[in-house]
Amino acid sequence: MKQVYSQVSPVVPKPFVKWAGGKRQLIPILNENLPENFGTYYEPFIGGGALLFHILTDRNDQKCSISDLNSDLVLAYTTIRNRIDDLILSLKNHEKNYHKDSKSYYYSVRESNPRSEIEKTSRLLFLNRTCFNGLYRVNSKGKFNVPLGRYSNPNIVNEDNLRSVSNILQTTQVSIKCRDFEAVLRDVKKGDLVYFDPPYQPVSNTANFTSYTNKDFTDKDLERLADLCNRLDSKGCKVLLSNSDSKQVSDIFSEKPWKVNRIQANRSINSNSKKRTGHFELLIKNY
Ligand SMILES: C[S@@+](CC[C@H](N)C(=O)[O-])C[C@H]1O[C@@H](n2cnc3c(N)ncnc32)[C@H](O)[C@@H]1O
Repeated sequence: MKQVYSQVSPVVPKPFVKWAGGKRQLIPILNENLPENFGTYYEPFIGGGALLFHILTDRNDQKCSISDLNSDLVLAYTTIRNRIDDLILSLKNHEKNYHKDSKSYYYSVRESNPRSEIEKTSRLLFLNRTCFNGLYRVNSKGKFNVPLGRYSNPNIVNEDNLRSVSNILQTTQVSIKCRDFEAVLRDVKKGDLVYFDPPYQPVSNTANFTSYTNKDFTDKDLERLADLCNRLDSKGCKVLLSNSDSKQVSDIFSEKPWKVNRIQANRSINSNSKKRTGHFELLIKNY
């Protein structure tokens, strides 16, 4: 059940998690590449949802459908929408305990396995704010395994932004699902827009490794994605896709109707700060 919203925040909503591959820095160029008109907006690899929040801030009557395979992340979206007051209380409790003994508290929360949706979501947000580099990474058993970060005063309860995200999710038409990206095909109609921002194919063997779920995104998944893009194109959907600047990807999308643009991007999550410099990635579309 939705809560009665008591305190409307004037803050513009932005991603409530730091997420590897987050698109905040690319919003201007993604915005320029959106089609002028489209039906429902679909984002099947939602992550932190940078483009979603941008679109909803610009047009709050836009119908949207978001999904991701990471069930904790998807739960966070619905908990923030439905139970913001309880969530903020729980996060404030984490904040208080963290300030007593950050190291032992961080590892005790990392080892914990809460059952309730409030506790699960506040654990995810707390770990995201206090772990090394705000990285989300799980091992093959799905267990979060990032060490404690080096922050003197992390912003554990970003209340204004959380309330703003809650407000926009309550007052707009956004459907939120936990599922594999291919399921989007069942829902789309002609004229809808689908933006894909999948885990990237590594550009080199030494490239940073990120695991958002306990299943890696393999070459087979990339083939499934390419095939899905073609099927969406045949259905008359508009498709926008981000990916790494690799020959493998540009070869897959080398034929009509696909247009491949190389764009400059910055990565803010890289364990080596010297590598957090500009690099190129691909933006591919069929319109
Ligand atoms: C690059 S991130 C998306 C970043 C997002 N655009 C942002 O601005 O933060 C990729 C997302 O894909 C999700 N994912 C991985 N495999 C998936 C699959 N097979 N189906 C759906 N989502 C998947 C991950 O959990 C992760 O959240």
